[in-house]
Amino acid sequence: MVLNFKAMDKIIEGKTKVIYANPDDPKTVYMLFKNDITAGDGAKHDVIEGKALVDWKTNRDIFEYLNSKGVRTHYVESPEEKVSLVKKLDFKINLEVVTRRVAAGSILQWGGMEEGKRFDPLVTQFHYKDDPLHDPMLDDGYVDYIIRAKEGGEVFAEMRRMNDEIFHVLEEAFARFSIQLVDFKLEYGLINGEVTLIDEVTGGSFRLWPYAKKNPNLHQENILGELDAQGRLDKDTYRQGEDLSQVRSKFEQIARITERF
Ligand SMILES: Nc1ncnc2c1ncn2[C@@H]1O[C@H](COP(=O)(O)OP(=O)(O)OP(=O)(O)O)[C@@H](O)[C@H]1O
Ligand SMILES: [Mg+2]
Repeated sequence: MVLNFKAMDKIIEGKTKVIYANPDDPKTVYMLFKNDITAGDGAKHDVIEGKALVDWKTNRDIFEYLNSKGVRTHYVESPEEKVSLVKKLDFKINLEVVTRRVAAGSILQWGGMEEGKRFDPLVTQFHYKDDPLHDPMLDDGYVDYIIRAKEGGEVFAEMRRMNDEIFHVLEEAFARFSIQLVDFKLEYGLINGEVTLIDEVTGGSFRLWPYAKKNPNLHQENILGELDAQGRLDKDTYRQGEDLSQVRSKFEQIARITERF
């Protein structure tokens, strides 16, 4: 199939993807991946030749895997390179839902959190999506209040449940390749009245740290010493200013792994 996007209506263009209306079906849209990469809520921006293709592959393999595990996602199929067909959102929930197994990144600024601390059970937090405000975290007490106060509360409870479910599925999948899923952020929307995983899951969605040794002991208070944080495969490589060919090579390594899910 050759899709002619010039003849289609562009619904929205974001930082990393463009969404087109599907002329043959109002219930689905095409999601086109771009070569752009951004960090710091858009403050840092580059274009990496080949990134769209590699993100599209990773996203395809992760969503097909999640669908096969019975997770409710928007993903339908990938009709051609760099393009996915997804169910159209009825309502976008303006939150990033972050789940963490290991303390890394922004959480280290909170209350003297030690890098490498292992969370069991997983920790899930909601961030309000707003670049100028730097996606502030919602107060847990407030989220619990929303969940108890019926109106919309079941949506929050369902996102929490799904993030947990998806984390366990992907953590186990990456573990087969001796890689720890450290954390991830996912996005949700309502499709046919149901909370559904939307958007993309790619190298920019998570932290992935390879095991530092053959049989790491991952059931300790702090597992930093068991993992090779310097060998990270994810977008932190870009955030930390590594050159773009290095960033691309890390993203290619992720795609080679998710291909085998
Ligand atoms: N199933 C879907 N139906 C319709 N639109 C979708 C769907 N999944 C994702 N989108 C939208 O695609 C748009 C483009 O995504 P992109 O990630 O490039 O945006 P962005 O600039 O990063 O903004 P955001 O911070 O919202 O992700 C977003 O507005 C996103 O909400
Ligand atoms: Mg985005």
